[in-house]
Amino acid sequence: MHVTTETANLMRTLRAGGASVVLSASNPLSTQDDVAAAMVADGMPVYAIRGEDADTFYRHIDAILDTEPHIVFDDGADATTVLHQARAEQPVLGGLEETTTGVIRLRAMAADGVLRYPVIAVNDSDTKHLFDNRHGTGQSSLDGVLRSTNILLAGKTVVVAGYGDCGWGIATRAAGLGANVAVIEVNPIRALSALMEGHRLLTADEAAPIGDLFLTATGDIHILRSEHFKVMKDGAILANAGHFDVEIDLEALDGLAVERRVLRDNLEEYVLEDGRRILVIAEGRLVNLGAAEGHPADVMDLSFADQALAAEWLVVNQDELGPEVYTLPDDLDEEVARLKLEAMGASLDTLTEEQERYLASWDQGT
Ligand SMILES: NC(=O)c1ccc[n+]([C@@H]2O[C@H](COP(=O)([O-])OP(=O)(O)OC[C@H]3O[C@@H](n4cnc5c(N)ncnc54)[C@H](O)[C@@H]3O)[C@@H](O)[C@H]2O)c1
Repeated sequence: MHVTTETANLMRTLRAGGASVVLSASNPLSTQDDVAAAMVADGMPVYAIRGEDADTFYRHIDAILDTEPHIVFDDGADATTVLHQARAEQPVLGGLEETTTGVIRLRAMAADGVLRYPVIAVNDSDTKHLFDNRHGTGQSSLDGVLRSTNILLAGKTVVVAGYGDCGWGIATRAAGLGANVAVIEVNPIRALSALMEGHRLLTADEAAPIGDLFLTATGDIHILRSEHFKVMKDGAILANAGHFDVEIDLEALDGLAVERRVLRDNLEEYVLEDGRRILVIAEGRLVNLGAAEGHPADVMDLSFADQALAAEWLVVNQDELGPEVYTLPDDLDEEVARLKLEAMGASLDTLTEEQERYLASWDQGT
């Protein structure tokens, strides 16, 4: 998982529940080295270095899998994939998946008939994706943009690719800060929502020449490509909030560039032949974790309550579970929401007996 203070607290919670824990990173650029050091000092082994290359990243995954874990918490399914390829014989009780892209990969494994142990799609709990992906990614992605560029969003044209939970959060928050938001979508329902929520709806080709800032959050590949870079404004800024660094085709951008230089922390400038400059934040990796600190604890508490309860649920129900992708039962989801409301000091109303009866009846109409 991402090596952040919130993950450290999830691990402390699991340890308090009796588990031994060990951590490697779920993204090469999301590790906070000071957090890793503090975790090690607290007796929790961590195999992660911010900026590690792909070989080191996978060596670190091997190091945690060498401990023969019963349960694997994953974020993006890279460790899970290793457990289905190079380590396909290693016994595992079950897994938990934190993010949309990981769940998509797991469902593809299940569809191919290769998934070999139960995995819980924690991302799909309402208390996870409706809050973490929307409010967490919405705020922290803009946090990453602001920390690395210090631009004013008011009056800028911000292009958001993907209007799922993350894209909704980014677009809504950017509009709140005064940006003119344009959305790129391929799903007609999501596209219609974007339009009716006050944003412009454009194709990537239409958006490319008008955007000041582009943020991708699709979980898909090559949303911004060569033909788009060729028509972008001088000074256009590109960032990605999706799980993998494939949404912006940086290889193509590098091919078009005659010069590259680092302008400030997490901000690189590509100069094209005609002198136009395109700026890329955090190497096209998760902007909120690469250029800021990820989601605040105030929302990760929900996601990680789901993770911890999912782990317990997996252990308790292990005899009934097969090699499938599961979602957590609704009562656990609601319990997490109740706890959060309580922690926020908010008042939740309850149904009267009359209301309960009414809602369960069919004979009281006009
Ligand atoms: N940065 C973070 O901290 C963070 C947090 C949660 C999720 N994520 C990641 O963000 C990505 C999006 O997650 P989500 O939960 O919003 O997913 P989602 O499935 O709710 O939304 C993705 C949207 O992108 C659209 N899309 C797909 N291909 C497209 C294309 N070529 N052009 C335009 N639109 C396209 C889909 O139609 C969908 O509406 C995933 O990779 C996920 O793992 C990142």
